[in-house]
Amino acid sequence: MLVLGIETSCDETGVALFDSDLGLLADELYSQVALHAQYGGVVPELASRDHIRKLIPLCQETLRKAGKSLDDLSAVAYTAGPGLMGALLVGATFGRSLAWGLGIPAVAVHHMEAHLLAPLIDQTQPPLPFIALLVSGGHTQLVEVAGLGDYRLLGESLDDAAGEAFDKAAKMLDLGYPGGPNLARCAESGDPQRFRFPRPMTDRPGLDFSFSGLKTFTLNTVKASEPLTDEDRADIARAFEEAVVDTLIIKCRRAVEQTKVPHLVVAGGVSANVRLRERLEANLDASIYYAAPRLCTDNGAMIAYAGCQRLLLGERAPLAIDTRARWPITELGIPGGS
Ligand code: KG4
Ligand code: ZN
Repeated sequence: MLVLGIETSCDETGVALFDSDLGLLADELYSQVALHAQYGGVVPELASRDHIRKLIPLCQETLRKAGKSLDDLSAVAYTAGPGLMGALLVGATFGRSLAWGLGIPAVAVHHMEAHLLAPLIDQTQPPLPFIALLVSGGHTQLVEVAGLGDYRLLGESLDDAAGEAFDKAAKMLDLGYPGGPNLARCAESGDPQRFRFPRPMTDRPGLDFSFSGLKTFTLNTVKASEPLTDEDRADIARAFEEAVVDTLIIKCRRAVEQTKVPHLVVAGGVSANVRLRERLEANLDASIYYAAPRLCTDNGAMIAYAGCQRLLLGERAPLAIDTRARWPITELGIPGGS
């Protein structure tokens, strides 16, 4: 089965071709970073307009790179949510219409399920059940995964997502957009001993997260240290990164102990963070699985892959296009199940 995957939920236009027998054949990404950088964050209206411009040429390029044509496609998978509504509508409308025109099935993919499955694309498969730490710009969740669509939420952020906290802290430090990777780079030369930031909600039981207090703490530290030197920036970035990483690790360790499931999949944009990976490896008594770094952040490959898994189990999107800005992962059913 050859599946065309389309991702347009935020600020990346992603298109990929996944073959159920041969694996990933092509994977093209157009990032809108330069477009949004001047505004310090994603401008939803501009994101939608840019997806419209880039999507069809990117599909053509993806097919060309794989040496395939539209006639070779078995199905089309598109992100239906969660995400920015206007941006989602571009990929969903195009993807569903393309499938209808070609007379092939389509499948509506949940963006966070696609992140969750991304480490399975071309890496060693974790045994079931496993725990998933989903850390992206919009979500921070711990989920117990018993199978495709069989998800139990163990804990989640009560306010900001980890990626969002990275982005906001980067903005306070004038590190620009996209914040996460910039802050991580700046933190490399920082002194981890100079500032000690709080590890929110780690002193009480439970698996929920909160990052908004850390944001306030960062802002207060920035204000108290102004005018900032490059060294101040690096030290604050380092203290912030250490605090987020520590907090995530403490909760992951707790989730593993509580469920007695010793397999952890880490997915979403923040899973590209090198310090998080190093510290997890050193501090967790579990086998850990990640996607290749370029498949951690938004991409079309994870949509093609997740869509393919659901299509193989018989799932089909109806002709009426349904996109959802909010869509809890626990509402997903097991394909073919009741
Ligand atoms: O999964 P993703 O690409 O998009 C969403 O679904 O939200 O995640 C993007 C988030 C952004 O907040 C970005 O700052 C963060 O992931 N991120 C990172 C790193 N790379 C991306 N955060 C920390 N360290 C990184 N290396
Ligand atoms: Zn994402």
